[in-house]
Amino acid sequence: MAAEMKCVGVVGGGQMGSGIAQLAAMNGLDVWLMDADQDALSRATAAISSSVNRFVSKGLLSKEVGEDAMRRLRLTSNLEDLRSADIIVEAIVESEDVKKKLFKDLDAIAKSSAILASNTSSISITRLASATQRPTQVIGMHFMNPPPVMKLVEIIRGADTSEETFLATKSLAERFGKTTVCSQDYAGFIVNRILMPMINEAFHTLYTGVATKEDIDSGMRHGTNHPMGPLELADLIGLDVCLSIMRVLQEGLGDSKYAPCPLLVQYVDAGRLGRKRGLGVYDYRKKQPVTTP
Ligand code: 3HC
Repeated sequence: MAAEMKCVGVVGGGQMGSGIAQLAAMNGLDVWLMDADQDALSRATAAISSSVNRFVSKGLLSKEVGEDAMRRLRLTSNLEDLRSADIIVEAIVESEDVKKKLFKDLDAIAKSSAILASNTSSISITRLASATQRPTQVIGMHFMNPPPVMKLVEIIRGADTSEETFLATKSLAERFGKTTVCSQDYAGFIVNRILMPMINEAFHTLYTGVATKEDIDSGMRHGTNHPMGPLELADLIGLDVCLSIMRVLQEGLGDSKYAPCPLLVQYVDAGRLGRKRGLGVYDYRKKQPVTTP
């Protein structure tokens, strides 16, 4: 079915949504990228163009395919423009209520054969599907940040997701050049269930004064060959996203070991959300990192 897919809709023009739209466009699909905020759409276009140029300049994409990708990309603030899409991938804020409302709206406008996919990092696909009249066609399609570069797409089957929907989504991810893994629908799925407790533990390590942020990150980079340390990675992902995933894990799995570290909570309360705000664990507004309180 993915080979027959011609048009992908993406809702949400942030880091994840723009990256997913870029992947679809670079792989020969027509794309509608929707965001209610015009500034977000402008930032998304700039990010996609710069990322496509990086692929072209490294010889990983021909100039023609890069130009074709930019032509295939259409931006809109009107959800109804996504009605021609064969699959719509949602990449909006990690709030179950907001996502459920969107799924209800998408169910009303999408063509009857369309798959509705969520890029949620941890929210239940089964519950999102319950907001629609097509639970067999609802699925989790979880890209890793940054989507154009990271090799994995985690596919999450809700309680009612059909085999046809699963196979079509897996095949689309493979068309994007990704490796897929399949997870059942339990809080955090595979990757975040393992990754977020590690990031949370890094915050505890900082909070309890075991080591500086630089040494925690250097320790994990050089000691375990991770490309980034856990605190740098938290800044890349967004501290608010990390916090919301820890809360989903704590609530969904009912174990106090998933309680978010107070320092992570405090940073989010202070608006230190990571790279996207210029300040997280590290300060991206200056060359040198700030001293952690
Ligand atoms: N588009 C195109 N190319 C890109 C790119 C983009 N958006 N971002 C990075 N690249 C390329 C660069 O061109 C470069 O390629 P090269 O090695 O062939 O020259 C390479 O990636 C490295 O880029 P940088 O030199 O800029 O190195 P950085 O360290 O700044 O970033 C990274 C590279 C890919 C982010 C790497 O550090 C990494 O893999 N970090 C870990 C990321 C990770 O773990 N992501 C998953 C998080 S979990 C998640 O997303 C789940 C969610 O639910 C929370």
